Amino acid sequence: MNVPLLDLKRQYLTIKAEINEAIAEVVESQGFKLGPKVAAFEKLIADYCGTKRAVGVASGTDAILLALMALGVGRDDEVITTPYTFFATAGAVTRVGAVPVFVDIDPATYNMDPSLVEAAITGKTRAIMPVHLYGQCADMDSILEVASRHGVAVVEDAAQAIGAEYKGRRAGSMGAAGCLSFFPSKNLGGYGDGGMVTTDSDETADLLVSLREHGQTEAYHHWTIGTNSRLDALQAAVLTAKLRHLDAWSDGRSANADYYDSRFAGTPVTAPRREEWNRHIYNQYIIRVDERDALLAHLKASGIGCALYYPVPLHLQECFKPLGYGKGDLRSRPSRSPCSHC
Ligand SMILES: Cc1ncc(COP(=O)(O)O)c(C=O)c1O
Repeated sequence: MNVPLLDLKRQYLTIKAEINEAIAEVVESQGFKLGPKVAAFEKLIADYCGTKRAVGVASGTDAILLALMALGVGRDDEVITTPYTFFATAGAVTRVGAVPVFVDIDPATYNMDPSLVEAAITGKTRAIMPVHLYGQCADMDSILEVASRHGVAVVEDAAQAIGAEYKGRRAGSMGAAGCLSFFPSKNLGGYGDGGMVTTDSDETADLLVSLREHGQTEAYHHWTIGTNSRLDALQAAVLTAKLRHLDAWSDGRSANADYYDSRFAGTPVTAPRREEWNRHIYNQYIIRVDERDALLAHLKASGIGCALYYPVPLHLQECFKPLGYGKGDLRSRPSRSPCSHC
């Protein structure tokens, strides 16, 4: 038996004609840079996520980086986030010169524990970045409430969560900006890298449009320093074709998760908790089990694809050693200097 962790070829074969036609159209036009395909896809994603605007960029990592830049997060600012996520979340914070401040997760959902956020706010806090991990939204009401009381922005890392819903609101539509990834393994995955920032703010979206092309207003006129981070027209064409199938695919994942949940009940396997108010899109189905390494070895030996997400939490990554975190100390961190906003 051989069950791969993800079988993109199988998916491709079900939509081959649509995809090949979409790619051929772009190749025939030779219009690879932004243009109508990207603009139309941005509109589709804004509608899908329930935001006014969406701006296509080169990756989910860049979506976070550019969203932080557009919101004015920079040197020595603090961004509160979770240590249990893909590296890009905190990597992007550091790349804008800001400092990631980690708060622990709720181990049942793997998402940021909102009850810990307020104590982490200081006079330097500029943003809170919850991650909708594995396709389930963080508990946004309390995060948004704390953020608004302290006058800080919420940036949603929705890289794994396109189409996920929190109390009827779509991932990426609740904060000042939402960051999506179209990395191939995502529920809506491109044929290469891609990302998008969703926002209700025209000002933020216009800034992003400029920042993704080296901070230009018109060709060769630069009012600020951005970067080269456009969504390719080829990716937009592929993703537009795939978007038509996204809800059916995500519902299929959810049905598979229901099956796993029922089979794991009463076993030593702890299944992920799905909050009843959430639409979980199950980018991953992550279990917890005491004999983890033995189970991984057993599944691999049986030809069943599986992987460890994530072996080292971000506060313990080598590159973040200067931040001074130690193993297991997040919940016991002493309270920090008080917030000057209140
Ligand atoms: C939670 C999270 N944030 C950010 C990213 C970065 O996205 P990308 O790989 O498209 O740069 C990813 C991608 O894996 C992710 O899972």
